[in-house]
Amino acid sequence: MKMKLFLSLLLLLGLSWADPFLEEGSGSEVQMDGHHMDISTMILSSNNGSNEMLLEGDLLVPRTRNAMNCWYSDCWWNKDARGLVTIPYTMSTDYQAWEIKRVQYAMQWFTYNTCIRFELRQNQHDYISIENNDGCYSSLGRVGGKQVVSINRRGCMHHGIIQHELIHALGFQHEQTRSDRDQYVRINWENIDPSTYHNFYRQSTNNLGTPYDYSSIMHYGRTAFSTLYGKDSITPIPDSTVQIGQRQGMSYLDIVKINRLYNCNNRANARPWTQ
Ligand code: NI
Repeated sequence: MKMKLFLSLLLLLGLSWADPFLEEGSGSEVQMDGHHMDISTMILSSNNGSNEMLLEGDLLVPRTRNAMNCWYSDCWWNKDARGLVTIPYTMSTDYQAWEIKRVQYAMQWFTYNTCIRFELRQNQHDYISIENNDGCYSSLGRVGGKQVVSINRRGCMHHGIIQHELIHALGFQHEQTRSDRDQYVRINWENIDPSTYHNFYRQSTNNLGTPYDYSSIMHYGRTAFSTLYGKDSITPIPDSTVQIGQRQGMSYLDIVKINRLYNCNNRANARPWTQ
């Protein structure tokens, strides 16, 4: 028991070293909890009561596409001659300096590990507008023109949440709605309100040849949308003790998937200073 406590302390310390911005401002994971709140729980509680029409908790209902599909290049971001995928962005003036830094820090992970580059918008037509709106949400993939990624200052300013919403904007869905998910998780429909069943429908996803990833930043926690306190809506199978719904940031396989979707394997481990 003491060893466990010691290990969790080490983990907490490790986390705050890993993310220099966690200590600043309000609402960091480390400050907030002695309990374990995963990313989806934080997102869903921030979006509770949001006026937006959201699918699966944090996806804006598509205006231009009728399905929750982003298989085809029409919703991917374009790659330039250098092999880089630039995603122009703007940020609301609501944010303070430390909040801008935290968003940019989350973006740097894409720079270090993929060919995705988030760059301040100049005059590009398609871009994401990061706004302090009502909740944490994004569209799926590139919509065309301006598209909002909402990172509310009070509930969403967490490293993992920022990465989660940016990964939606790249075209990725929630891991537990993958086409092959029934081999890896059980959905406990009896613990879910029928009015929210649609959040658990399997989608015809392109899994890009990657194994199911319980540790994806895009995986919901086990009690997401559960109507009964503490009861699982999602249980890993066959080993129900596997941890799901993490809160640190993008996983190794999240990075692999981004590199495969955008065909930037040649850049997978590139560092900006080696180019
Ligand atoms: Ni999401």
